[in-house]
Amino acid sequence: MTDEYYSRGTDWSQLDLEEIGRRSNTDKYRQGYLPHYEKHLKKHRQDAINIVELGVRSGQSLLMWQRYFPQATVWGVDIDPACMEFHDPEHRVHVLIADQRDAHTLLHNLPTTAQLVLDDASHLTQWSMKSFDILWPSVDWGGLYVVEDIHCAAQKRPMDRITPAAGSVLDVDEDERCNDVSDLYSWMGQLGSMVWCGQAARLEVFSMHMTITKPTR
Ligand SMILES: C[S@@+](CC[C@H](N)C(=O)[O-])C[C@H]1O[C@@H](n2cnc3c(N)ncnc32)[C@H](O)[C@@H]1O
Repeated sequence: MTDEYYSRGTDWSQLDLEEIGRRSNTDKYRQGYLPHYEKHLKKHRQDAINIVELGVRSGQSLLMWQRYFPQATVWGVDIDPACMEFHDPEHRVHVLIADQRDAHTLLHNLPTTAQLVLDDASHLTQWSMKSFDILWPSVDWGGLYVVEDIHCAAQKRPMDRITPAAGSVLDVDEDERCNDVSDLYSWMGQLGSMVWCGQAARLEVFSMHMTITKPTR
């Protein structure tokens, strides 16, 4: 990717995350997620943090993070090999081709700590739970784990609409890719008990996403 692709002469430091999301053409702008992210992450804007996002698709959200955080390294994970197009370490964007459930590949290739880990991949609750188990330990003290599009848990077969990348989730058996909202409820209960036990500082549930905050050290 060229410098032109990343900057187009714009001074991104003057814009908030919502405006950068809009200009980067990410769904997160339309879904209303960006003010939530900004509230938690603004204080780290100038820091050399790691950001890990599960689900790359067309690379728009990676571009948004790259533009908003001038010192951060952005790590995108996707099962679709076509996403390698957005791998550009020279501009602080790394793409890893992996299944979000593949502990070995994730743990061997992603940074050991990240200020933000977000799951915008399959939207299958069971698979998201697996990713959380793998990646929660790598969230920095005071950092954030976000699961987007949790409303998909109430859709029995959301995948054809949600994931455009054929050759990924669409390959698995239909039974396996059925979401069940009771999985989400039971997961929320587990996350709530992490707060109760002090392993997480806060669990916030919104209509379409939830955030789990790590305690400060
Ligand atoms: C909603 S799109 C990601 C959009 C992107 N985060 C953005 O905001 O621009 C979901 C992506 O998740 C990927 N995906 C689906 N199942 C996956 C899995 N099991 N592991 C990793 N990625 C997966 C799909 O290939 C697709 O590119």
